[in-house]
Amino acid sequence: MKIKVLGSSAGGGFPQWNCNCRNCDGVRKRTLKAIPRTQSSIAISETGRDWLLVNASPDILAQIAANPELQPARRPRDSGIAAVLTIDAQIDHVTGLLMLRERDTPLPLYVTDPVWQDLSTGFPVTSILAHYCGVERHRIALDGQALSVPALPNVRIDALPLTSKAPPYSPHREAPERGDNIGLVFTDTVSDRRVFYAPGLGAIEPHVYEAMSNADLILVDGTLWTDDEMIRLGLSKKTGADMGHLAQSGAGGMIEVLDSIDRPGARKVLIHINNTNPILVEDGPERRILAEHGIEVASDGMSFEL
Ligand code: MLT
Ligand code: MN
Ligand code: ZN
Repeated sequence: MKIKVLGSSAGGGFPQWNCNCRNCDGVRKRTLKAIPRTQSSIAISETGRDWLLVNASPDILAQIAANPELQPARRPRDSGIAAVLTIDAQIDHVTGLLMLRERDTPLPLYVTDPVWQDLSTGFPVTSILAHYCGVERHRIALDGQALSVPALPNVRIDALPLTSKAPPYSPHREAPERGDNIGLVFTDTVSDRRVFYAPGLGAIEPHVYEAMSNADLILVDGTLWTDDEMIRLGLSKKTGADMGHLAQSGAGGMIEVLDSIDRPGARKVLIHINNTNPILVEDGPERRILAEHGIEVASDGMSFEL
């Protein structure tokens, strides 16, 4: 199976339009060794022809343009995106659905029930799309049954419920439901190799740790280096924990978690990186620390074959 990183940044992107933090200012003025990144999305395929889009980022159109394999040009109107799955109802993962409205058939969309609820109420993307291509709803049931998507017959998809929060506009923001946020395990049933993907991961629960430990590619929450990073920079009042993101450094942080996993040959890659995170500076000390721990940092266009 093939995995393509379309967008490796967290919500806001890098640089973020209104941000003049050290990273955003430095990448804009090219005074920092760092590369721009678009917002959170990956695509997965068996043959490289038909793709499952996992998260539909606000930057989807630029991402399609940057990845010609998503436009195989078989017909006058065509796309390599066969279906979409979103792991939550957050702006950075669902806004791109609106950009796919010119399809001539309903868009196959795989989401959990609480995410469907948010996408038809708090952020009614599916109701809006009903006036264009429409949406073909596929339920992610979280009943332990693996999911399969017709375009990827040899890929098994297991969804893991994560403890986190629904978006601020969700009608049940203050009453979290199972399925507000999920992590995913993709298994290539031919090669028996596995990918773990969770761009938002606030706590490493036992079922999550088990899935991470058994993966050959771990694509995991790289949002913040320190839990209070955005507060210290005066940019937000929220900690990483408040937002459902486990920071990399410190006791119990993501570096420690990844260090405890020693599956031979497994790659550990941070994804969904916030623009304030010092790991974006390629010749910086935090990046050296990650390298010492065998941890990579995702960038747009990065691809994997398993
Ligand atoms: C998050 O991952 O915490 C959200 O995407 C943040 C946002 O989009 O503002
Ligand atoms: Mn996000
Ligand atoms: Zn910034």
